Amino acid sequence: MHHFEYRDGVLHAENVSVPDLVRQHGTPLYIYSAATLTRHFNAFDSAFDGLDHLTCYSVKANSNIAVLKLLAGLGAGMDIVSGGELYRALKAGVPPERIVYSGVGKRASEIGEALEAGILMFNVESVAELIKIDEVAGSMGKVARVSFRINPDVDPKTHPYISTGMKKNKFGLDIENSLAAYAMCADLANVEPVGMDCHIGSQLTSIAPFMEALDKLLDFHDRLKGMGIDIQYLDLGGGLGITYDEEEPPHPTEFGQALKDRLAGVPLKVILEPGRVIAGNAGILVTEVVYTKSSPARNFLIVDAAMNDLVRPSLYGSFHRIEEVVPMGRDSLTFDVVGPICESGDFLARERVLPAVEQGELLAVFSAGAYGFTMASNYNSRPRACELLVEGDKVTVARKRETYQDLVDKEL
Ligand code: LLP
Repeated sequence: MHHFEYRDGVLHAENVSVPDLVRQHGTPLYIYSAATLTRHFNAFDSAFDGLDHLTCYSVKANSNIAVLKLLAGLGAGMDIVSGGELYRALKAGVPPERIVYSGVGKRASEIGEALEAGILMFNVESVAELIKIDEVAGSMGKVARVSFRINPDVDPKTHPYISTGMKKNKFGLDIENSLAAYAMCADLANVEPVGMDCHIGSQLTSIAPFMEALDKLLDFHDRLKGMGIDIQYLDLGGGLGITYDEEEPPHPTEFGQALKDRLAGVPLKVILEPGRVIAGNAGILVTEVVYTKSSPARNFLIVDAAMNDLVRPSLYGSFHRIEEVVPMGRDSLTFDVVGPICESGDFLARERVLPAVEQGELLAVFSAGAYGFTMASNYNSRPRACELLVEGDKVTVARKRETYQDLVDKEL
C-alpha cells in the first residue's frame, strides 16, 4: 500500500490530489503522509517484538512538531542532539523518560535543560563531556544517567559524510578509552553509567556492519561486567537505509530477527534510533517548473525548489526520484533539474531522463521526508517552504510558508 500514488493520472497524497494542495498552499511544498509515518513506525517497532526495547525516533530526520506528536502517540521515544530538539520533543508531548541525548558538543546549558526535563540518558561522546555533565548535575543536585557512545571502528559502507563509527570519525570513544571512562564514573558523584551506545552511520543497506558493531559491544559488555560495572541499556543507534533508487535495504524484520538471535539471554534493554527509515519515504517535495532552457550541452528544468529546500543532492550527490505530478505522456529527454540559487551546485538531479515537461507543470521529488526540511536554509533569502501533513482526506498545515517579514524579523 503506497500513500503517494496516482489516481486517474494525478498524484495523490493519501486521498488528496497534489495539484489541489498546490493551488491552496503553493510551491515549493513538503507533503507528509500520516498513514505512511504510522505504517513505517509500526513496522519498525514491531520488528523487535519479543525483545525488551524502546524505539527512539531520531528527531533530526524530520522535526516538525506534527510529525513528532504523531510518532509520540504511537509510543515512540526520541533521540535528540540539541537543546532545540529537546524543546520540540517536549512540546510534542514526548515523555522525558523516553528521550536519549546524543551529540559530541553538548553545551552546559543544554545538559542542564535535559537534566531539568529528566531524560532517560545522555549518550556521552568524550571524557570532557562526562566531566561537564557531572559538574552540571552536581550543581543541580541531580545524578545524570549516562551511556558512552562507543566507536566500534566498523565500516558501514555508506557515504563518507554519514559514516560515523570509524576510527577517523569525530564520534564517540574508542573501546579502550571507553573502558577508562566507565571506570572514571566511580569517582564522579553525579553520574551513573546505565548503558552503552553506538551509531555507525546512516543509509546502511546491509545488516552485516550492525552485527559487527553489536559483537564488539557485547564483548565490551563482558569486560564491563568483569570490572563490576552493571548496565541496563544497549543503544544501537539508527542507520537503516531506505530505497531512493534501486537500493534494496534489509526490511526491519530482518534486522529485528538478527538482533533477537544474537541477544537471546542478554539482559539488556535495546534502544533503537531510526530516523530515515520512518520519515524518508513518508514525504515528497513538490515544485513547479519555472522555466525550461537548453544549451548546446544540456537541457535544464529550472524549478522553484532549490538546494536551500533540499540540500541532499548538492551535499551528498544523493539521488531522489522525480516524477510529474500529472504525467502527460511526452517523450523523454535528459535534463538537469536545477533551482534558482546562484551556485552551480544547486541542483535536484543531474542528467536525469524525464518526460519533456513544460513551464508551469509540477514535479514531485520523492523520498524527501527525512533530512529534507530539517536541513533547509534561507540561502538567497528564500523563505522556507510550507509543510503539510495529510491524513486520509484531512490536511494540516504543519508549518506555514515563511514570509519575507520572517526573513528579517530578527534583524530589525
Ligand atoms: N542516531 C544518531 C546518533 C545519529 O547521528 C543519527 C543520524 C541517527 C540516529 C539516525 O540515523 P538514520 O536512521 O536516519 O540513518 N543528513 C544525512 C544523514 C545524517 C545522519 C546523521 N545522524 C542525509 O541526508 O543523508
